[in-house]
Amino acid sequence: MPKTVTLSPSGQSVSVVDEDETVLQALEKAGYALPNNCRAGACGECKVRVLQGEVDQGFVMDMALPQADRVNGYRLMCVAKPLTDLVIEWSAPVDAPKLFPPREAMPYLVVDRIPRTPRIVELHLMPLGTPMRFWPGQYVAIKAPSRPDEPRHYSLARAPRPDGMIVLQITRVDGGVTSAWLHERVPIGATLPISGPYGTFIGNPKTDTPVLCLAAGSGQAPILSLADAALRRGYQSPVTLIFSARTADDVYGQGLLAYWTHKHRNFKSYVTLTREQRSGLLHGRVPDILPGLFPDLAGYSVFIAGSTAFSDACVAAVKRLGAKDAQLNLEKFVDVSGVYHQA
Ligand code: FES
Repeated sequence: MPKTVTLSPSGQSVSVVDEDETVLQALEKAGYALPNNCRAGACGECKVRVLQGEVDQGFVMDMALPQADRVNGYRLMCVAKPLTDLVIEWSAPVDAPKLFPPREAMPYLVVDRIPRTPRIVELHLMPLGTPMRFWPGQYVAIKAPSRPDEPRHYSLARAPRPDGMIVLQITRVDGGVTSAWLHERVPIGATLPISGPYGTFIGNPKTDTPVLCLAAGSGQAPILSLADAALRRGYQSPVTLIFSARTADDVYGQGLLAYWTHKHRNFKSYVTLTREQRSGLLHGRVPDILPGLFPDLAGYSVFIAGSTAFSDACVAAVKRLGAKDAQLNLEKFVDVSGVYHQA
């Protein structure tokens, strides 16, 4: 029987029709952008207090939902399935963009695959059906045939295009079955079932502040998508991207960044290497080089994408330089059962 989830204090409501549907899925279908990340009960990003009613919480990690939070009525909406009608303590911000409802297993054809680094391959995919609508910064889910119950998440690396083509940058993760399959066994001409879009790393289209983007590894993908969209729509304030890589072999996407630098006077990018020095590139971790480049980040919107360790270190650094919580936008690649959620 359908259940109703009422959002408090706004009074908005959504229906959960299917008994396998989570609260997060129902919210997304209705276009509400509840923050989420791992979608697997591992990161705590979707934690919300249930004010009335009962959910089947399923399996979640203690670090994502500590006992003290459980006692106080908090639950993780990405895996919570309503057992009764619910009232939850969360409402969509009034000026937040509405999400496009995710769709399952849309057929996309691999039209190109480009090795970007020894560990990152870029896939270009064209829709065989109706193109997915998404916000820049969102991600999609892919299931390897041998892991039908373990979707892995990959950020969309470009803004939406009229022809519907999407670009994914797949990091090969040690022990990652899905990333190994995508690297080794999915040729040009293969059809991939793509589900999505998901995620709330989308910023606010009404932002007009200077923007600082910090990315590591394939964390560059959602940043490229956001910057691509902002520059195309004529964003006027300064946009700076700092990409952190271990070595020069791990650097990619520089051609596109050079193009944006020439075409848009408000765009600038830096590369910093943490494990070697090269002329023309910065050297050192982002938190260490940031004060020299941006001594005062008050008034900046900051977008950070990369591993949990990278994100946490960058958040601490930008806050020391004056960035406010409300200006921070994070996309952490969360570790689920020993592998990154993009594995
Ligand atoms: S715990 Fe729900 S999104 Fe990570």
